[in-house]
Amino acid sequence: MQTKLVRVSETEVASDPEQRKAIEKAGQILREGGLVAFPTETVYGLGGDALNRESSRKIYAAKGRPSDNPLIVHIACLEALYPIVEEVPESALRLAKAFWPGPLTMILKKSGLVPFETTGGLDTVAVRMPSDAIARAMIEAGGGYVAAPSANTSGKPSPTQAKYVAEDMDGKIDMILDGGAVCIGLESTIVDLTEERPMILRPGYITKDMLEKVLGEVEVDRTILSADSGLKPKAPGMKYRHYAPKGELTIVSGEEDAVVDTINRLSKENTVRGEKVGIIATQETRERYAAAVVKCAGRRADEEAIARSLYTILREFDDEDVTVMYSESFEGSEMGQAIMNRLLKAAGHHVIETHKSKEKEER
Ligand code: TXA
Ligand code: MG
Repeated sequence: MQTKLVRVSETEVASDPEQRKAIEKAGQILREGGLVAFPTETVYGLGGDALNRESSRKIYAAKGRPSDNPLIVHIACLEALYPIVEEVPESALRLAKAFWPGPLTMILKKSGLVPFETTGGLDTVAVRMPSDAIARAMIEAGGGYVAAPSANTSGKPSPTQAKYVAEDMDGKIDMILDGGAVCIGLESTIVDLTEERPMILRPGYITKDMLEKVLGEVEVDRTILSADSGLKPKAPGMKYRHYAPKGELTIVSGEEDAVVDTINRLSKENTVRGEKVGIIATQETRERYAAAVVKCAGRRADEEAIARSLYTILREFDDEDVTVMYSESFEGSEMGQAIMNRLLKAAGHHVIETHKSKEKEER
């Protein structure tokens, strides 16, 4: 299959006739059961008609994704929510008012309109209204309901740029809309509204605090930061070793000097052994590291910058054939949990806790 790559811009998509035509074409492909990758504010999505079971099957095939891992249905207006769910609880309306369009996905009871192929056999459905203008125009042109996982091959970091989508999907899908680099860089926050208490199943840009201001107390799925493989996450996709780079990633946490010393020592040992070492540093520490590849994720206090660069850095390590990687740890208050959740998965929960002189290794 020939994959058509078309450039579109968020600011011109409504007015430029050529770009408008590209969106119409994307809509036609979706309505005919084809697949289109598109930018959202979080990461690129791999879209198909959410109400067409064949399209959902094609999405799983293109990603190489297990079909018990449900897809998120993307909508462009609030009215589109009602036909695909059994009921719209008051909590969903409040969240929609506060955070839609935006990086929040809600789990609700599905209606008969949504095929089980889209929900991985579940009787609930994940719904999100993205804020990206290209995504919204495409969803409308495509009939209003677009099932879209992140547009990466299953197990790879989610794509933050169209070139990474092309790397994974070229020849497997009909079209890629290239809208440039995404804004947020980590997938949406997922909140389950089907139980008595709302529960965060995946942390993201919309934090627990932000949700609690709207809903009151919100629970957090205990598996989000835990390495205990006996716990079963409520979002089926969270059980897979996601976001994995090709090399071995280890997170080193603790006080700054101890972290820098430990990473430098391990970097040296591995380099001597013939490994190509990559380090995820911060603005504050980058100059203090010695390794083949040192990447700066941003200023430590700037969690949004770190979130935005994380997947790009992991992809760049792959491109540069890095075999052993170390990252500082990010336990900040806002997006820190989302960053740490993705990093822990990428590292297979391999963390070294440094204490001033001795080291304790945890698996
Ligand atoms: O930001 C995002 O959410 C991106 C963009 C493209 O919108 N999409 C995305 O989709 O991250 P995906 O498929 O990579 O991740 C969806 C997650 C999976 O962990 C899946 O298990 C969970 O959502 N999920 C989907 N439907 C669910 C449901 N009914 N119940 C529980 N978890 C669900
Ligand atoms: Mg994904």
